[in-house]
Amino acid sequence: MEAEHLRQWLNLALRWSHVITGIAWIGTSFYFNWLNSRIAPPRVAEPGVAGELWSVHGGGFYRMVKYSVAPDRLPETLHWFKWEAYATWITGFALLALIYYFQADVYLVDPRVADLAPVAAVGIGLATLAGGWLVYDRLCKSRLGKRPRQLGTVGFLVATAVSWALLQVLSSRAAYVHVGAMLGTIMAANVFRVIIPSQREMVEAMAGGRPPDAARGKQAALRSLHNNYLTLPVLFIMVSGHYAATYGHAWNWAILAGLFLIGVGTRHWFNLRNQGRRNVWILPAAAAGTRPVPAARCRTPPPATGTRP
Ligand code: HEM
Repeated sequence: MEAEHLRQWLNLALRWSHVITGIAWIGTSFYFNWLNSRIAPPRVAEPGVAGELWSVHGGGFYRMVKYSVAPDRLPETLHWFKWEAYATWITGFALLALIYYFQADVYLVDPRVADLAPVAAVGIGLATLAGGWLVYDRLCKSRLGKRPRQLGTVGFLVATAVSWALLQVLSSRAAYVHVGAMLGTIMAANVFRVIIPSQREMVEAMAGGRPPDAARGKQAALRSLHNNYLTLPVLFIMVSGHYAATYGHAWNWAILAGLFLIGVGTRHWFNLRNQGRRNVWILPAAAAGTRPVPAARCRTPPPATGTRP
């Protein structure tokens, strides 16, 4: 009883920290993507400056300036944005371990789906997180990496195949969460393995009096854009535990694929809008896509209130 009580408090502390750091990360990501789309050529040309943007917020006026590659001299204080991503991953992984790995027999394994040994189910979960990043990174470095539409299509098909496969071996709720954790791991690894190293290399080049490599900057921007498109699908999956009608449905893998597309489509609509391009059909199509699927097809009864850990 004492251990269960402690687990509840730990769950609350980790979940709260995870949501706070997730908000900080996604908020920053949305803000900088918005800034990149809205920034316009400066009214008075400045050497090396690609664009500027004025804004007012919280009673203050701000002027943001974006350099084509980098300024001539680095300022004394340069703010980096990385701990939001790392902390989201660390707290998310700790929550995954607390709920699904340390109580694998209850939350990860469902004998009605597959009678796995808990240790095998944990192995599948961990392999999904690591494998997801390795496959995605390979795809980005292949020729597909230069073709965003094809990369997006292949990425979507692979993610759907992974969801389908996980739903054949894990409890359906755990399978959903693992797809979200896999995508979230890809996003955090993009920050850790590509975006921050590219930025660090550019800063070191400047400090050493060498011109920074603009190609590294572009690579970082591309991975940041991938992260931007993944945010809404990941957010849906993270809260999907409240909606047994999704993960408990006979067509749960197709519902996840549909909601993934709705999330990406909605993000795309906002990205187009930020660039001043109004699209009239994406949001209505996404809204139509959220039409409830027949409840009669539910295969797993929704859990009784209060049973979520
Ligand atoms: C883009 C990054 C992420 C965001 C914005 C995010 C957001 C969230 C939110 C808002 C919740 C609360 C859901 C609820 O209580 O209803 C949640 C839960 C959770 N997240 Fe994340 N998350 C992210 C990445 C990750 C990663 C990388 C992992 C694991 C490696 C992870 C693991 C979890 C787990 C295990 C839960 C609890 C799910 C459950 O109760 O069944 N998250 N996340």
